[in-house]
Amino acid sequence: MAKDIVLSGIRPTGNLHLGNYYGAVRSFVKMQEDYNCYFFIADWHSLTTHPTPENIQKSARTILAEYLACGIDPEKATIYIQSDVPETIELYLYFNMNAYIGELGRVTTFKEKARQQPDNVNAGLFTYPTLMAADILQHRAKWVPVGKDQEQNMEMARKCARRFNNIYKVEFFPEPQNYYFGGDAIKVPGLDGSGKMGKSDGNCIYLFEDEKTMRKKVMRAVTDSGPTEPNSPKPEVIQNLFTMMNIVSEPETVKYFDEKWNDCSIRYGDMKKQLADDLEKAVTPIRERIKEFSSDEERLNRIARMGAEKARESAAKTLNEVRKIIGFRQY
Ligand code: TRP
Repeated sequence: MAKDIVLSGIRPTGNLHLGNYYGAVRSFVKMQEDYNCYFFIADWHSLTTHPTPENIQKSARTILAEYLACGIDPEKATIYIQSDVPETIELYLYFNMNAYIGELGRVTTFKEKARQQPDNVNAGLFTYPTLMAADILQHRAKWVPVGKDQEQNMEMARKCARRFNNIYKVEFFPEPQNYYFGGDAIKVPGLDGSGKMGKSDGNCIYLFEDEKTMRKKVMRAVTDSGPTEPNSPKPEVIQNLFTMMNIVSEPETVKYFDEKWNDCSIRYGDMKKQLADDLEKAVTPIRERIKEFSSDEERLNRIARMGAEKARESAAKTLNEVRKIIGFRQY
């Protein structure tokens, strides 16, 4: 039986950190075994903020190298750069004809962006959801692993599929569904004591970062003055350290520090040193591979070309059908 099609888009904004890895990328790596996966770098979407040509080039390569280093295998999954697949744009145009100003204007991410960049509320920003629908539906993907913040965009993708089917009285596009990793995805806490790991200063550990920087950040993670009573509940800042340790350390190690917490003899310095050691073990192989991939431009280009070919073939097949359904000449 044919494998279900999975697709996810990655905005090329900066480097991957531990939160991205344990929260998503590691699950992508698993999915490529069981699904027909398409992972792409959404560089067209990044144009809404008008980056420079140098910026565009560099950020796509960076993220490509990092995804490959994490274990996305171009022989198993199709990994490509959005702008390498011009077919997407034609489908985007068709979807725009059936998407309405009212509904696009109600999308929360649009409203937020419009507030953040009031001088640059461009049509591309407004039609972000129809481009995303084209990304997904050009491969007739069934599953889309994305965060909760993408719910409205996913609903718009389903509307695009449904409307097209209704207007032309066909059963052509499947309605794509959000795919949740469930237990597989781990929410990594930030180092600043609250919430999840994000890109703000000192709050996250990047996969590419050298050992010294990583250790320094761990040693600086926010703590408190220590437990005063045995077996007391852990405040969030401390629980965060334990959560991190649960991700990268041996269960005995966690148990050891848990006991130290419970009998009030814990020394945060010792715990952080241990955590840094174990993080280092987890990250070293990825960091090494990032270096390898990013120093080999030729190889990155080859991989991107190969991905683009596969993606274009799949998109062209869909588009040919779409042209026929709409009443245009087929290619
Ligand atoms: N909108 C997504 C984000 O902000 C990125 C994206 C673009 C995407 N096209 C997509 C995600 C298609 C899934 C499928 O993260």
